[in-house]
Amino acid sequence: MQDHFCAGHFMRIDVATLFPDAFQGPFDQSMIGRARRGGVVEINLIDLRDFAVDRRGTVDDSPFGGGAGMLLKADVLCRAVESRLQPETQVLLLTPQGERFSQPMAEELSGSSHLFMVCGHYEGVDERFRQTMVDREISIGDYVLTNGGLAAMVVCDAVVRLLPGVLGSDQSAGADSFGRNNLLEYPQFTRPASFRGMKVPQVLLSGDHQKIEQWRCRQARIRTVGRRPDML
Ligand code: ADE
Repeated sequence: MQDHFCAGHFMRIDVATLFPDAFQGPFDQSMIGRARRGGVVEINLIDLRDFAVDRRGTVDDSPFGGGAGMLLKADVLCRAVESRLQPETQVLLLTPQGERFSQPMAEELSGSSHLFMVCGHYEGVDERFRQTMVDREISIGDYVLTNGGLAAMVVCDAVVRLLPGVLGSDQSAGADSFGRNNLLEYPQFTRPASFRGMKVPQVLLSGDHQKIEQWRCRQARIRTVGRRPDML
């Protein structure tokens, strides 16, 4: 089947990582794969090792002052960013020390025309890279991953699905949990109407769209109060 998207906003995302191969599954398949093939987004994987200067491809070194672990070198990271830098580029560093990623942040980022994501690795990155090159540091949650690659995949996925034409219908993004009304999604059901003795709420079979809408609003509020009172 031919992938087809409406013309409009175009986004480029460059992802700099030590493990470009790890992105192949998530970025070639499903929604992101389709968006790439459809020309809505161009995603380039950049191997940080290509920006090492020595023969051994050194990208990291031990911290001054001692301590465990290795840091990604400032010169390698700066060269990688500079190889793609445009006036409109937003440079993002994925790190557990960053601002917490959220749906409003995904929406903001989806308005950008060029994102450059740097996947931190090992114990972190040289502070001078952070200070001079990075526009925004992003954490996907309060836990520590072994590198920023998985975090970059999460951010890419949440951003790309918001680009015009990526989802099947224009409404699909708005009705999600954390969508327009800032509530969790209401419960949903599909055929059969009775499954192992559990019946679909009668109102959903009624065909009365106003009643259905009221029921859904109420259920969304009940669900949000019960699970995520912090969101209200
Ligand atoms: N790298 C390691 N842990 C991370 C996290 N929670 N968010 C973003 N990048 C990370």
